[in-house]
Amino acid sequence: MLRLYFLISLLCLVKSDTDGTCPSFTRLSFHSAVVGTGLNVRLILYTQRNQTCAQLINSTTLGSLNVTKKTTFIIHGFRPTGSPPVWMEELVQSLLNVHEMNVVVVDWNRGATTVIYTHAAGKTKKVALILKEFIDQMLAEGASLHDIYMIGVSLGAHIAGFVGEMYAGKLGRITGLDPAGPLFNGKPPEDRLDPNDAQFVDVIHSDIDALGYREPLGNMDFYPNGGLDQPGCPKTIFGGMKYFKCDHQMSVFLYIASLQNNCSISAYPCDSYRDYRNGKCVSCGVGQMVSCPLLGYYADNWKDYLMDKDPPMMKAFFDTAEKKPFCMYHYFVDIISWNKNIRRGFITIKLRDKDGNIAESSIDHEPSTFQKYHQVSLLARFNQDLDKVAEISLLFSTKSVVGPKYKLRVLRMKLRSLAHPDRPHLCRYDLVLMENVETFFQPILCSK
Ligand SMILES: *[C@@H]1O[C@H](CO)[C@@H](O)[C@H](O)[C@H]1NC(C)=O
Ligand SMILES: *[C@@H]1O[C@H](CO)[C@@H](O)[C@H](O)[C@H]1NC(C)=O
Ligand SMILES: *[C@@H]1O[C@H](CO)[C@@H](O)[C@H](O)[C@H]1NC(C)=O
Ligand SMILES: *[C@@H]1O[C@H](CO)[C@@H](O)[C@H](O)[C@H]1NC(C)=O
Repeated sequence: MLRLYFLISLLCLVKSDTDGTCPSFTRLSFHSAVVGTGLNVRLILYTQRNQTCAQLINSTTLGSLNVTKKTTFIIHGFRPTGSPPVWMEELVQSLLNVHEMNVVVVDWNRGATTVIYTHAAGKTKKVALILKEFIDQMLAEGASLHDIYMIGVSLGAHIAGFVGEMYAGKLGRITGLDPAGPLFNGKPPEDRLDPNDAQFVDVIHSDIDALGYREPLGNMDFYPNGGLDQPGCPKTIFGGMKYFKCDHQMSVFLYIASLQNNCSISAYPCDSYRDYRNGKCVSCGVGQMVSCPLLGYYADNWKDYLMDKDPPMMKAFFDTAEKKPFCMYHYFVDIISWNKNIRRGFITIKLRDKDGNIAESSIDHEPSTFQKYHQVSLLARFNQDLDKVAEISLLFSTKSVVGPKYKLRVLRMKLRSLAHPDRPHLCRYDLVLMENVETFFQPILCSK
């Protein structure tokens, strides 16, 4: 009897081992990348009820996918080594934590894994066709295109675009995370992601000078740090493998940060990064809007506003910190000077709170021009938000090593938070800044 029980248990164990284990993303070796892989698309479903143990689904078996709920597809890109994307798990879990939805990981690692980028890129339209077949089945079972959201990374962004095009732009939303540039740059809209591929298309460009795409591709195009070099990423090839993909991947990490509600990253609609850095684009351009556009999952807060625009496209810029949660806090430093002659130079500002925390910002994008009795508004970006500023220091520099040292005579300096315009403005009147000498003072509340 006991023996029989054992036998049954053993059989159960074996059974649960073969079809009961949780499927996961295909893991391939570098060897596969060298010899190349044929296309095989696996759809891996995660839901809130089955957050850790996924299910393999396909167009004949939707599994526990509930078609009346929102469905988010995550589509990765080129896999030059065969390994699963490092960010996949965190992205899936973070999505499930903010909203009850179906998350479908589109695992086309067989296909994307090859050392030859052109081969992977050549399979993107086929992947899109397979997704179309699957979505058609979802629709047949009662799903609505409006509830379908696709997050595409690199080549995956263009795949999402191809799917969207087959539904004439009726998909709910597409988010492109640093859409691939090579082989797609300059292509017509039907051969890449474009704003007509979904009801709302938002894009984060984090590596426009290498693996990413420079031009806008969506309704809302976000360019963190101008879209070029991301803080915290190695700047030279001595940074190893990271040097190649760190900027590119930053788009994904920024998106994930938006789901983790530590802080929200605001972006500033602007024509260029330069104008943003020079403080020309901080009003967000819409009087009635509650907040500036938000990066990431909540980027659709500007959808309605954009749809009334012609064309419904907008670029937005912002800076990020090196580390999670990446937020920078924007302040204006308004300076009125009274030097007889025009002074050009750079300002570095430090804030200190009562507990001794220090936040520093150098405003060094371009020299500012100080002219008698004119107010100059400088955009300062801090990596922490000090609520109660007890002390401020200012440093003025012309950055010239030779020649005389200058003074900047400040009639009034005012510090105001952009994110919290309601916070009291801090002022200091009558101050002389000697070049390259840090000047500390306690600010007072500005008079009205
Ligand atoms: C979770 O997924 C597994 C298959 O991967 C399935 O056997 C199980 O019933 C699912 N659980 C729930 C609660 O849906
Ligand atoms: C779909 O998935 C089911 C269950 O995993 C499997 O039995 C079936 O063969 C799959 N169909 C196709 C066409 O792959
Ligand atoms: C599917 O989702 C809807 C809406 O969230 C819910 O009312 C329904 O009970 C769900 N169906 C199943 C089978 O879980
Ligand atoms: C951000 O918030 C998440 C929870 O939403 C928490 O797990 C994580 O530790 C926080 N990270 C930082 C850097 O504060």
